[in-house]
This record gives sequence, C-alpha cells and structure tokens, in this order.
Amino acid sequence: MARSAEQSSKGVHVSKEPLDTPPMAIHTLGDEVLRTPAKRIGKVDESVRELARQMLLSMYAAKGIGLAAPQVGVHQQLLVIDLDLENPATPPMVLINPEITAEGGSICTYEEGCLSIPGVYLDVVRPSVVEVSYRCEMGRSRRLKADGLLARCILHEMDHLNGVLFVDRVSDGASLEEGLKEKGFDRAHVRSLL
Ligand code: NI
Repeated sequence: MARSAEQSSKGVHVSKEPLDTPPMAIHTLGDEVLRTPAKRIGKVDESVRELARQMLLSMYAAKGIGLAAPQVGVHQQLLVIDLDLENPATPPMVLINPEITAEGGSICTYEEGCLSIPGVYLDVVRPSVVEVSYRCEMGRSRRLKADGLLARCILHEMDHLNGVLFVDRVSDGASLEEGLKEKGFDRAHVRSLL
C-alpha cells in the first residue's frame, strides 16, 4: 500500500475510539444531498480542519475507512480516509480538492461498501492504481500514488464529490437488486453509469 512520506494529521488529531453518538449524521441512499456535486474549497483554514475532525469522529463511530463531506450534507471537496482503524498511531488522511492525475495498473474487481448504504456490499470494477493531487489539512499541495485498498478508497470517496455512489457502478443487476432490497433500500435511487 502506497503512503505519502510526508503524511501528517497534526491539524486534525482526534481519538479513534468509536463514539456512541456521531457528531454528524451520515445521509443514506435516496437522500438527494448525496447527489449534489461538491464545490472546491478556497482557503484551508480552521473551519475546514474542524469539519475534517467532525467527519473523522463520525467515520470512526460508524467504523468506516473513508467518508466524503457530501455524506454529512456538506458540499465541499473534502475526504477523510483511515485504513488503519485499530492503530491509534497511524494518522488519517485528509484530501482537500482532490484531482485524479493518472489512473492505471490493472482493472480489478473488489467488494465495496459505503456508510451511506449500510450493510450492502457489492462488486465494483475500478483501476488498481491512481495518482491524485490535493491539499492536506494544512493547505499544502500534495501528490500521492496509491494502489490496493487505498486506491479503491480514494476512487470511491472521490465519486461522492461528484454525486456518484458505488451502486451506480455495479454491473450485476440481480445482486444489486437483492442486496439493496435486503437492507431496505430502493433500487430506483440507483443512477447506473453502466
Ligand atoms: Ni461511500
């Protein structure tokens, strides 16, 4: 798993202990806020870092590894990711205004889930490697080349910034129908990209 050498989260440190009550509610499939594209963040200031902290606490409470601001009803281009929930010493990542600069590797299939569609896990095809440019929580420009789960997670979360959900990318219609129905979601809310 690729990881930025200069990664730091000193600006957004929070406990990874899951709270009983998350500070922000996570919107679910069918809620229009998930379909509204996010806007670029101008100045990366304390209000942006506070949003990142509240998102991290909400993500940890839900035991998720990634969360995008539109999922908590904020239409700004901000993602938080932490693939190492068990280790308090591993800093989370904060990606502000992320842009994909390259995609590559192989095309791979992996079972994804989403805090906005709880309990539903389905296969999605994506490229295995991604390069992104973004700003960190201190406002500094960063570049990152990621593969494996991190690449998958970045691509999934970046979709949220464009109002796209992983179920829009599921090709197996029967599994999609069944998976959503089982958890009480309506397939009519899927906007297939395939
Ligand atoms: Ni998601």
